[in-house]
This record gives sequence, structure tokens and C-alpha cells, in this order.
Amino acid sequence: MELFEAIKNRRSIRVYTADPVDDAKIEAILEAGRWAPSWANTQCWRFIVVRDPEVKARVADTLFKVVLPDKVIENRATAIINSAPVLIVVCAVTGVSGGKLGGGEFEFLTDKGDWFMFDTALAVQNMVLAAHGLGLGTVIIGTADAPRVEKVLGVPEGNRVVAMFPVGVPAREGKVPPRKELSEIVFKDRWGG
Ligand SMILES: Cc1cc2nc3c(=O)[nH]c(=O)nc-3n(C[C@H](O)[C@H](O)[C@H](O)COP(=O)(O)O)c2cc1C
Repeated sequence: MELFEAIKNRRSIRVYTADPVDDAKIEAILEAGRWAPSWANTQCWRFIVVRDPEVKARVADTLFKVVLPDKVIENRATAIINSAPVLIVVCAVTGVSGGKLGGGEFEFLTDKGDWFMFDTALAVQNMVLAAHGLGLGTVIIGTADAPRVEKVLGVPEGNRVVAMFPVGVPAREGKVPPRKELSEIVFKDRWGG
């Protein structure tokens, strides 16, 4: 698949078939994540591949629900995760990205602090594109209660769960959410120009 076509045509997939996804495909997806750029090549990302339906369900149960006075509405991503054969949970080692290079005390260099969200996002984009290239569907999920997921998956202190995405065979194509026009998001020489 041509790169620009893959970037443009990848969609969030929220319905999967019951078809399995073999390990070779999951490894190819993880390999794409491994080759993402990162701050000073620190590669703070760690990936947990969850296939065990029970573990997957416990992670899915951490997604935020909408609590109304008379009812609780399940996060629709809970069912999405449970229906997909594989869930990749993206974690980050904290305190390594965004810092000063070389010896001495570690110190964050910029006003942004730890850049782990940025680095892991690059790996995630590589992986969802790779999955798309393999004919598989994904949807990035950010609405989890990360500290609870960390407990469920035994993520040690100093590491954070950032996001997750199910991988499966798409049951139908995703809708195409519109994008802002370039004229709305690109400026010339200065903000608003
Ligand atoms: C950081 C991030 C968090 C997201 N979290 C969720 C989520 O919790 N649930 C969900 O259904 N979609 C989630 N999405 C998917 C977006 O809704 C989706 O990418 C967006 O609507 C554009 O659609 P497209 O991916 O098909 O182009 C998330 C996407 C990103 C980048």
C-alpha cells in the first residue's frame, strides 16, 4: 500500500469479526512501533500484547463510564476491546524522554517536562498504520483509568500506561470524520498569518 494512501485511508475501526490475528502480524505491527523516532533515541515505549480474554475484559472494565443520575452508560470502547482478538497496551518508561543528554543529573530540558506522551504517540501511529497496511483494523483508546490498568497488568512504578488499541479484522469500514481544511490550521510566517 502506498504510504500517503495508507495515511489518508486509515480509519478507527469499532466493529471486528471473530477472525483471529496471528502472531506474525502482531509482530510486524510491533516492529513498526519499534522503528518510530524518539527523543534522543531513548525509546521509552513498552508494549503489552493482551490476548487472554479475561485480562482483556479486566482492562476494558477500567474505561470511564458516563454516570447519569438515573443510569450508567457503558463506554462503547469496552465492547470494542472485548470483541477484538488482541489488545496492545502502550506503556512508557517515565523520566527518560525530554531530558538532558550525557552524564550528570537527569534534568528535563524543555518546559514540556517528560516527552513520553509524544514518543509513544509516534510509535502508536506507526503501529496503527502498519496494521492498516496488513488489512487489520485498530482504534486508539485513551479513555481508560490508567492507574487501574497499571494494577491489572502489573506495570511497575516509574512506568505509565498511555493508551491502548485493539487489533482485529474489520467487520465494516469506519466512517470518515471530516478534517479541518489546511487553510484553518496552517499559518504563514506567524500565528494567524
Ligand atoms: C489520543 C486519542 C485517544 C482516543 N481515544 C478514543 C476513545 O477512547 N474511544 C474511541 O472510540 N476513540 C478514540 N480515539 C479515536 C478518535 O476518535 C479518532 O481517531 C477520530 O475520531 C478520527 O477518526 P479516524 O481515526 O477514523 O480518522 C482516540 C484517538 C486518539 C488519537
